[in-house]
Amino acid sequence: MTQLQGKTAFITGGASGIGFSIASALVGAGCGVVIADVEAGALEKASHALRGRGAKVSTAVLDVTDRDAFQQARDQAIAQHGAVHLLFNNAGVNAAGPVHTLSWQDWDWVMGVNLGGVINGVKTFLPELMRHGPEAHLINTASVGGLVGMKNLAIYNAAKFGVVGLSEALRADLKSNGVNVSLLCPGIVTTALTTSERNRPTHLRNEATPTPAAPAASNAPNPVAMSADELAAFTLEAIRENRFWIVSHPEFMPLIEQRDRSILEAFQGAPDAAKVQAMQALIEPFRF
Ligand SMILES: NC(=O)c1ccc[n+]([C@@H]2O[C@H](COP(=O)([O-])OP(=O)(O)OC[C@H]3O[C@@H](n4cnc5c(N)ncnc54)[C@H](O)[C@@H]3O)[C@@H](O)[C@H]2O)c1
Repeated sequence: MTQLQGKTAFITGGASGIGFSIASALVGAGCGVVIADVEAGALEKASHALRGRGAKVSTAVLDVTDRDAFQQARDQAIAQHGAVHLLFNNAGVNAAGPVHTLSWQDWDWVMGVNLGGVINGVKTFLPELMRHGPEAHLINTASVGGLVGMKNLAIYNAAKFGVVGLSEALRADLKSNGVNVSLLCPGIVTTALTTSERNRPTHLRNEATPTPAAPAASNAPNPVAMSADELAAFTLEAIRENRFWIVSHPEFMPLIEQRDRSILEAFQGAPDAAKVQAMQALIEPFRF
């Protein structure tokens, strides 16, 4: 999508971190924004910081795992702004630790927000986005943790790999309608993700001490951490150029290259051209 001015974006997890920086960059580009977040207090502060900069800003208190509330937030956004052209499925949380130590509550919470929340956003907003065709853009936030598995990040990896697969399929499905799809896979960004326990609902709390956050998302001074503002600027540039992969941290390239190569090397024998053709007649992958 080349033209952001005059469009409206709905951003989940828009009250802090990457979501807030994206909202701020969009406002700077003349785009109206609806910031949706489960944290009412942070949402109020965020909207205060964004208002008065020339673009229409509204808020929605929303838990992305709540499908009815998602629909209400969508209807309210359309009623207030007239349309929603961009959807950022950005809200996310983390509970890290060796897989044998993780509770059912950890699984339900992280999968519910990081994968379930994205599914709910897609299902709720697709009719509105499809109404705008090529003037619409769907941006899902995964992570480099959706491209390569990492120690102590089993649930996060499972959810983010799911978001990657969903986004690739979406791009294939939406091609004929023209809705643009992008997949944001950041590396380490300085945000409040390390304190995401603050948003764990009571019924999914662990009885024991909360699991510490992943070292990969540490807020300690980190030579490879990017600021959320820098990532937001990079993301807007990629949206304007309609790039599917929004991959911001080149230091992860060797890891991903190694993973891809190991898959290719594990195949036995060379592909038979006729079978390749027959297979591609059966399934329709999006071609990169
Ligand atoms: N920070 C990183 O290093 C990093 C790296 C890769 C990917 N990501 C992803 O970026 C996204 C944004 O995270 P961030 O780093 O800005 O963290 P953050 O904690 O600063 O922001 C996440 C936002 O999501 C909101 N949220 C949490 N649960 C919610 C729910 N159930 N419903 C609605 N909103 C909810 C939080 O209140 C918060 O405002 C996440 O999907 C995260 O997985 C972050």
